[in-house]
Amino acid sequence: LRALWTPLRVGGTTIPNRVMTSAMTLQYGERGRISDRHLAFYRERARGGVGLVFSEQLTATRVSGSPFPEALDAHDDGAIDGFNAIAAALAPYETRFFAQLFAAGAVDVSASGLDGWGPVRGPSPIAAPGGEQPLPLTRGEIATIVEDFARSAAHVRAGGLDGLEVHGSHGWLIGQFLSPYYNRRDDEYGGDAGNRCRLAIELGQAVRAAVGHKFPVGLSLCYDELIGAAGITPEDTLEQLSVLSAAGIYDFFDLSIGSSHSEHHTIAPMDVPEGFALAFAARAKALVGDAAAILVAGRIVDPTMAAFAVADGAADMVAMSRAHLADPYLLAKLRERNRRITRCVGANTCVARALRGEPVACVLNPATGREAAWGEGTLDRVDPARARSVLVVGAGPAGLRFAATAARRGHDVVVHERHAEPGGHLRQWSWLPARGAWARAVDDMVASLEEAGGRLVLGSEPDATALVNEAPDVVAVATGAAWDASGRTPERPDRAAIPGADDGRAVGLDVALERWRRDPTSLGTRVVIVDGVGTFAPFGLAEGLAAGDVDVEVVTPATTLGARAAEQLELPHILPRLRELGVALTLGHHLDEIADRRVVLADVWGGRGRTVAGVDTVVLACARDPRDALYRALVGRVGNVRRVGDALAPRDTAAVIHEAEALARQLESHGRDTDLTFVQ
Ligand SMILES: Cc1cc2nc3c(=O)[nH]c(=O)nc-3n(C[C@H](O)[C@H](O)[C@H](O)COP(=O)(O)O)c2cc1C
Ligand code: SF4
Repeated sequence: LRALWTPLRVGGTTIPNRVMTSAMTLQYGERGRISDRHLAFYRERARGGVGLVFSEQLTATRVSGSPFPEALDAHDDGAIDGFNAIAAALAPYETRFFAQLFAAGAVDVSASGLDGWGPVRGPSPIAAPGGEQPLPLTRGEIATIVEDFARSAAHVRAGGLDGLEVHGSHGWLIGQFLSPYYNRRDDEYGGDAGNRCRLAIELGQAVRAAVGHKFPVGLSLCYDELIGAAGITPEDTLEQLSVLSAAGIYDFFDLSIGSSHSEHHTIAPMDVPEGFALAFAARAKALVGDAAAILVAGRIVDPTMAAFAVADGAADMVAMSRAHLADPYLLAKLRERNRRITRCVGANTCVARALRGEPVACVLNPATGREAAWGEGTLDRVDPARARSVLVVGAGPAGLRFAATAARRGHDVVVHERHAEPGGHLRQWSWLPARGAWARAVDDMVASLEEAGGRLVLGSEPDATALVNEAPDVVAVATGAAWDASGRTPERPDRAAIPGADDGRAVGLDVALERWRRDPTSLGTRVVIVDGVGTFAPFGLAEGLAAGDVDVEVVTPATTLGARAAEQLELPHILPRLRELGVALTLGHHLDEIADRRVVLADVWGGRGRTVAGVDTVVLACARDPRDALYRALVGRVGNVRRVGDALAPRDTAAVIHEAEALARQLESHGRDTDLTFVQ
């Protein structure tokens, strides 16, 4: 790992080590400005020891804005105060902070707020998928963009930040000029590689003139748009790198994959192998040599992989961006050697929130975005005389988090889990194709429980009487939720269940997963899965079954397929695999009736329905109910009992882990027999 700790000189600045967080749009801004939440977030990563932190993409010109209404801007001189605040927050640390300057181009939205409804602008009238057809930029407007970037760069420097990057990747404006798909211009900005690089060079020169020779200035590049020869290919990027590095402006190139057609590779979910971008980075490094530093991002979560990449000379710096959402202290912990880190699993709750315009959170780390309240050093340890005996029933994500935090605070904690393996629903997810990383999340949760001195007892299901006899100070019932098998669905508000759902053929998703895991043939040869949730899980079961030659149809009442899986950038990886396996996918239908082996599907809008014959099993993934019988049996019989997580109310995993953390932090202040309803 020594390679990681070697400082790197970039321009006139020294970065203390080789790990960075590349730009991440956090959606923490307040009226277009850096907020206290940003400052706490960045300070936490600096304390954790990361060498270089990038800002999120900052709008650098008025000509082409950002599709996010709450985007931060850099072109207005009011931005300097925010930069000063970041510089002041990070002053005690060696970590360097670079701004990313950006313009959206064709991916902008013309009418997102109430002001500035001009047409979207781009190099040529070529729309991005789902986007608007842009009005081509005039030469005069391009000159204004160049001036605006230079002014933004001057603000970055005036604000005391350490460097900046022009955002040329991911299919935003500068990347559109570099792309043969978006750039069809016949003036000096279009045509061959030299012309397509012209805007990046002019911007670089103007920025350089504004900030001086020593200030680190780099360019981010997408090395493959993944649309074949129609877009930027790795070979194009090597050609662009020759042109750009010969221009001698940029101190570094920051490489990552993907643009508007392929953001599911840019922010790759767990379907994609770790470290996939390193092979291209090595080619780029061989080409540019010492002329510029090569930075690279792409699902690097293992510090050993990062260290190898640097030691082998594949890259000068390695991004572990989401890895630092999951654990801002991963480098500090690595240095201490004996502390376990929480590894990013590629669940993409973070990016789904950012794309929806919601403040970024991490499914595994409830402190992300809440650093002021829950960052390192905020946990009160209890006076040993006041330490409680805490018994947790259920080692799912809520139970494990509750237990680990309570144990870290000095309480005496034991977790009982009825299965032979911990993890609750995460354990089931980890069985699904391409979802094995969830097992790693469970391992890390158990490790942090044990590190804190908590104990886990597997294959143990204490009943109410045993718990009453044992009489711990606190019982936390974290027994999760069960999938409904009656088929109740909002699409049929007139009835409580699907006729025929009780004939033994209909099972909830959890039961189906357990059976399939034990015996892949146990669900029969024809299975209908009703997906009312839109996550990867119903698709995962479909894929697993179809890989075993089961005939599978996924039916959803929704009018879009897998909406949640799409937001998490999983769907584009899953769908081709389902198609390859011949899984049938039906939109806009709900289950009307199960009659013997026939399943009647009704069109949610009243059109003609359909019957599927010869069905062995109907899997229902529509609704969940809290598994809270134990809680009900304990209320009034033990001193202090509460439900945690899905056992209280079934929700997203991020929400139940958040709740567990909040509860464990307030353990002593709860009254008796209360569900905690807390205000965080
Ligand atoms: C929530 C989120 C927001 C992002 N916003 C930006 C951005 O503003 N600019 C950018 O260049 N990349 C952005 N990215 C992409 C990351 O910089 C990085 O390329 C990607 O996450 C892959 O690196 P990782 O696997 O280490 O996370 C974002 C990623 C995430 C997860
Ligand atoms: S939400 Fe998932 S992908 Fe995002 S940082 Fe957390 S673990 Fe990683």
